[in-house]
Amino acid sequence: MRMTFPMSRNAQMALCFLGVINFFILSLTSYLALKSLPSVRTVSDGVLKDSQSDGTQNPTTFNPILWAKLNRISHELNVSGVATDGALISGDAIMSFVYVMHNPRLCQGVDVVDFIIIVHSAPANLERRKRIRESFANESLFLPFHVRVAFLLGRTTNQTLDDLVRKEHLVNNDSVAGDFIDSYHNLTFKGVMGYRWVSEHCRNAKFVLKIDDDVIVNTFALLQSFYKHMNRKRSIFCNVWQANTMEILRQGKWQVSDHIFRNHHTFPYSYCSGFVVILTTDLMAPLSQAARLTPFFWIDDVYLFGMLPYVVGGVTFHHYCLDQFLSLQEQVLMRCLNTSNIECSVFASVVRDNSFWFVWDMILHKHNSMPWSIETELVV
Ligand SMILES: *[C@@H]1O[C@H](CO)[C@@H](O)[C@H](O)[C@H]1NC(C)=O
Ligand SMILES: *[C@@H]1O[C@H](CO)[C@@H](O)[C@H](O)[C@H]1NC(C)=O
Ligand SMILES: *[C@@H]1O[C@H](CO)[C@@H](O)[C@H](O)[C@H]1NC(C)=O
Ligand SMILES: *[C@@H]1O[C@H](CO)[C@@H](O)[C@H](O)[C@H]1NC(C)=O
Ligand SMILES: *[C@@H]1O[C@H](CO)[C@@H](O)[C@H](O)[C@H]1NC(C)=O
Ligand SMILES: *[C@@H]1O[C@H](CO)[C@@H](O)[C@H](O)[C@H]1NC(C)=O
Repeated sequence: MRMTFPMSRNAQMALCFLGVINFFILSLTSYLALKSLPSVRTVSDGVLKDSQSDGTQNPTTFNPILWAKLNRISHELNVSGVATDGALISGDAIMSFVYVMHNPRLCQGVDVVDFIIIVHSAPANLERRKRIRESFANESLFLPFHVRVAFLLGRTTNQTLDDLVRKEHLVNNDSVAGDFIDSYHNLTFKGVMGYRWVSEHCRNAKFVLKIDDDVIVNTFALLQSFYKHMNRKRSIFCNVWQANTMEILRQGKWQVSDHIFRNHHTFPYSYCSGFVVILTTDLMAPLSQAARLTPFFWIDDVYLFGMLPYVVGGVTFHHYCLDQFLSLQEQVLMRCLNTSNIECSVFASVVRDNSFWFVWDMILHKHNSMPWSIETELVV
């Protein structure tokens, strides 16, 4: 999701100093409940039911904290109300389908993948995927670190495009395609598919970097700055929007129907600006399990980086604020890269298509003028 921010610039800058935000609310218990999930599926009339294959439903014993959280979300999303705008779809579908295309060996061949880069991409954006492969996700540029990339796609009804996408996968072996229509109202599906895929096929990754396909990443700076976090668990690094600060829009592209979050003007969950988010890989299984229970909400940033971590519990958010670490404007990154001798802390930015290679060249230039010091750090 990318929307205009109704917050003043001062408020944004103030957020820069908040630092680490803890979500340790009765966390362990709800984590354990999720970990030992049986075939729990539906929440109806406030009772969590276990769907049996013979069609009968037996109430399951479950953790009351988890139950309270799910009830709260069901209530806020008005689960028993109409789902005409696709706001509520069971996460079960995404957790059980067969991938249309994927490469189960993508993360194999090395013991540890330092970063698996998960790119939310639209099928038509073949050029963007190509440039990403050739630049900041080119694994041979960052050795001894191991970087892999996977592009998350949905289905397209355009046959010509579908053929191109299949050919692309045959050559590059780096798409993960799911059985849902690729549209922005289905981005939550895509995100949950990403969590699921990494938890199944890329468990040897340390970090998951989720980006949109119009983002450029200074992978050198990223690897250098995340070296210190290598042993972190259950953490999310992103530009955090605090609970009860981001306005719920009732009009326009990001319009939320009136019956959803009915008595709220702002989102009651802390969540991330989703264009660049880093998560520790240990969160992938709990988050994707949580998606099986949590009623769907189509605004992916709120669902993937707000509601699911809330349900899982015990997640630490590290605030990487806009303009200092991440940027929505390439000029911010370019200015930062252009300051000689001083390390540039902005490691990712949205970039316009026609500036991509110019900015990538600046990144390479900066890197070449500041020797790759990771080997020395590794030896220590
Ligand atoms: C859902 O919204 C509809 C329409 O606004 C309302 O009539 C209904 O009471 C709501 N249901 C719940 C469970 O909040
Ligand atoms: C793609 O990966 C699969 C294994 O996951 C492998 O069998 C196949 O040969 C690979 N294709 C190419 C073109 O590398
Ligand atoms: C990655 O970089 C290497 C070394 O510069 C180059 O030979 C290779 O063609 C690049 N791969 C892609 C996909 O561009
Ligand atoms: C289908 O995809 C192709 C290739 O991207 C594109 O040129 C064409 O305009 C698309 N057709 C429709 C109807 O969108
Ligand atoms: C989302 O994908 C599902 C499954 O393919 C499809 O039925 C639905 O129409 C899609 N929703 C939107 C809003 O595109
Ligand atoms: C970089 O800085 C130089 C002078 O310091 C300036 O001339 C140039 O326009 C800057 N380039 C960019 C892309 O900002």
